[in-house]
Amino acid sequence: MKLVFRRPSKATREAMCKSALNIRHVPGSRYEEVSAAEEIVSKTTGHEYAKIVGSGNSAILAVMSSFKERIMVPDQGGWSGFRKMADFKSIETVEVPTNMGIINPDVLSEHVKFQNPEAFFITSFAGYMAEQPVKEIYEVCDDNGVVLVEDASGSIGYPEKMLANGNHAHVIIASTGSPKTVNVGSGGFITTNNKKILYSSNYILKSLKADPVTCAGIAEEIKNAPEIVSKTLKSCKILKEKLSELKIYHRDKRGINVCIASDDPKKLGYELRHGFDVDGGGIVTVCPRYDRLKEKAVCVEMKNLDVDCLNNENITKISEIILETLRSS
Ligand SMILES: Cc1ncc(COP(=O)(O)O)c(C=O)c1O
Repeated sequence: MKLVFRRPSKATREAMCKSALNIRHVPGSRYEEVSAAEEIVSKTTGHEYAKIVGSGNSAILAVMSSFKERIMVPDQGGWSGFRKMADFKSIETVEVPTNMGIINPDVLSEHVKFQNPEAFFITSFAGYMAEQPVKEIYEVCDDNGVVLVEDASGSIGYPEKMLANGNHAHVIIASTGSPKTVNVGSGGFITTNNKKILYSSNYILKSLKADPVTCAGIAEEIKNAPEIVSKTLKSCKILKEKLSELKIYHRDKRGINVCIASDDPKKLGYELRHGFDVDGGGIVTVCPRYDRLKEKAVCVEMKNLDVDCLNNENITKISEIILETLRSS
């Protein structure tokens, strides 16, 4: 079994090299790679406006700059950067209770009325393991004048456009760092139909902008997103079937990692890290953890693997390593 950490495609690396050698780059002028990346990113999410920035957290910081007092986040399964950026801007963060990360639109509706946030920051997947009912969440937010910000770092190119769809989010942000669905090694973006959100963060956006090489990478790598996300979803489904005897959180939901309940997650995490030989990185996350699940569990991050190694043979081997490790401990 050869497992390889996700990396940008060859075409993406070539596009980045070409951009680095582009002699038409004139400092101070607008780079053609920036416009090309903004165009394809806004076409992908369906939003009218797009900005490319240096990282996912830069995108969150820029969007956060549009708010003043209070934002809302899920009580687990979100991204810790939401709270950190709110703290940085001295904005209060309030939480909405979830069903292990999954947002119930009725509960959200009550909490939105009671807590009156300006925005609700979510990730498309609860903890990368279960798709959120984003359309229903959007309807609650829209009815109550709350800006829904969807972090679609894991879901760009999602099948049937259920996630990362500009019709169901006021703002979409994403990281294009490693090992995200659009993996360029660095960068991120913001898309929206609300010009005011980009206008109010105009100055900070200028400070956080991405270089043309990253933009060239995003414009190329985003073309692979539908295939990458579909193959990753499928590999998680197969892995869950092979682990039928184990307790898996959100077993019946679509996700891009697989979360296994464990009495001793630290030990299991340690053993699995040694069991999986991944060239270039790791695929094990130990919970409880805000970004995943506040339960004792270990996540196998199939999303971190290069899609070329998400074949039946490797998924079978991964399942055997998990089952053997659990049996011998
Ligand atoms: C869901 C999510 N959003 C944002 C980020 C931050 O992205 P970046 O590392 O590009 O700042 C991450 C990083 O892991 C993430 O998982």
